[in-house]
Parts: sequence; structure tokens; C-alpha cells
Amino acid sequence: MRFVLVTIFLFFTVSATYDMIIGDTVHRKMVFHQRVKDFAIPFKKRIKTLTYTDPEQRIIKGIAAIDNDFSHASANVTEGGVGCSHVTVRMKSQRHHPLNFEVEIYV
Ligand SMILES: *[C@@H]1O[C@H](CO)[C@@H](O)[C@H](O)[C@H]1NC(C)=O
Repeated sequence: MRFVLVTIFLFFTVSATYDMIIGDTVHRKMVFHQRVKDFAIPFKKRIKTLTYTDPEQRIIKGIAAIDNDFSHASANVTEGGVGCSHVTVRMKSQRHHPLNFEVEIYV
């Protein structure tokens, strides 16, 4: 019984964390925050990209893309990122699901 509970716990822990967190988002200043949403289309994955360029050319220290729906959506950095003053984040929903991310940039 205990084994089953641990297994269930692990399954939820592992499957619920599709958030992308890179670098330091704890001790830094948040300079950008945006919710990225798109409605669901049957049989489709929704894809959106978001680009941030720091107006003061500060170096990005942390990036977070949090999946608000706890789905199997995923997010990646495709350009720039930590160590640059710009970043492009690509977000992809689970098939049939809406896209609902929270993107935060820290310097
Ligand atoms: C991010 O990269 C991983 C591994 O290459 C890939 O499986 C995933 O689909 C990518 N996600 C997005 C949103 O591009």
C-alpha cells in the first residue's frame, strides 16, 4: 500500500512539472511579466513565441515559463536567454488543449 502511494505521489510530482525555470529567478528583479494564452483547437497543439529585449540592455539572469493549466505543455528558449539581454521563448500546448503560460524575466 505504501509503495502504491509513493508511486502515485511520484507520478504526480513528475508529470505536473512541465514548467521551464532557467537561471536565478529568486534573488533577482523581475523586469517583465506576461500571460500568454491561446484557446484550444481539437487535434492541434497551439504554439506561440514571445520575444523580450531589455530596453536598458541589462543581462538576463533568470527566465520562468509557468504552465498555469498544469498540462503537458512545454516551453523552450530558442534565442538568447540567460547571459544575453534578449530572449525568445517558444511555448507549445498539449494537443487539444489551450495554451496558458506565465512568462517572467529577471535581471
Ligand atoms: C522543447 O525542446 C524539447 C526537446 O528538444 C522538445 O521535446 C519540446 O517539444 C520543445 N518544446 C517547444 C515548445 O518547442
